[in-house]
Amino acid sequence: MTLHNVHTQALTVSAALGLMVIMGYFVGKRKSKLSRMSGKSHVGGRDDPVMQYLLTHSLREHPALKKLRQKTMEHQLNIIMVACEQSQFMANLARLIQAKKAIEIGVYTGYNAVSIALALPEDGKLIACDVNEEFTNIGKPFWKLAGVDHKIDLRLQPALKTLDELLAAGEAETFDFVFIDADKVNYDNYYEKSLQLLRKGGIIAIDNVLWSGKVVNPAEGDVDTISIDNLNKKLHRDIRINLSMLTVGDGLTLAFKL
Ligand SMILES: C[S@@+](CC[C@H](N)C(=O)[O-])C[C@H]1O[C@@H](n2cnc3c(N)ncnc32)[C@H](O)[C@@H]1O
Ligand SMILES: *[C@@H]1O[C@H](CO)[C@@H](O)[C@H](O)[C@H]1NC(C)=O
Repeated sequence: MTLHNVHTQALTVSAALGLMVIMGYFVGKRKSKLSRMSGKSHVGGRDDPVMQYLLTHSLREHPALKKLRQKTMEHQLNIIMVACEQSQFMANLARLIQAKKAIEIGVYTGYNAVSIALALPEDGKLIACDVNEEFTNIGKPFWKLAGVDHKIDLRLQPALKTLDELLAAGEAETFDFVFIDADKVNYDNYYEKSLQLLRKGGIIAIDNVLWSGKVVNPAEGDVDTISIDNLNKKLHRDIRINLSMLTVGDGLTLAFKL
């Protein structure tokens, strides 16, 4: 995610929150604990009572993940953190397919990286790709606290370079699960390389595919919106995969390699 879009998204969220305050949504109420679980813009909205119900009745957050989330919420860019219920869902998926090798493209403080690593067996590996050491350093103590730091192989360089290195090392068709959640203009490149690295029956999960609803009017959008919309259209036609697009978080596409 580019800084520009973090900014745009933050503006959208603060505008929405401002509107809710004007509507008296928070009158007489304190912001509940769960509404602070993640600052991200969500389909349905974090403060919707039904969303609150969903979270209180389904989240099973590992104590180290909870601490990592709280630490991440102190950071100025906390809005870019993955949604907890989405992360839990992806960890369940990884477990379902008995994933052993996974890739995270865009780590930030590592909430989802830890969540997936917890779902991998002791000898499992998560290749964690990011370019910002300041972000990953915030999270690292919690990777250890969760007891999964030995499963997380952090590669601090552009993710495309790491994916190319994995392909060059002969690791094509060996990965079970990939989560794409970094700079949007490279989404198509990440998808193509991930598809090569994935085994048959493996899953690529792609975040932000609804981009706060902006994909509905891509022509009015910026390059990020256009990149996401183009990939959405391409995946709909792509006969190499089965797919689902879910309204969890900011929109999540699951591509199942055939
Ligand atoms: C939306 S955040 C990731 C959130 C994370 N998945 C989580 O669980 O909270 C996007 C991340 O992508 C990283 N990023 C941006 N461009 C990148 C690139 N070219 N290669 C690797 N990472 C990149 C940013 O530094 C940022 O940490
Ligand atoms: C998944 O892909 C297979 C092979 O193309 C196809 O036969 C099947 O109908 C697809 N399933 C769904 C639910 O799209």
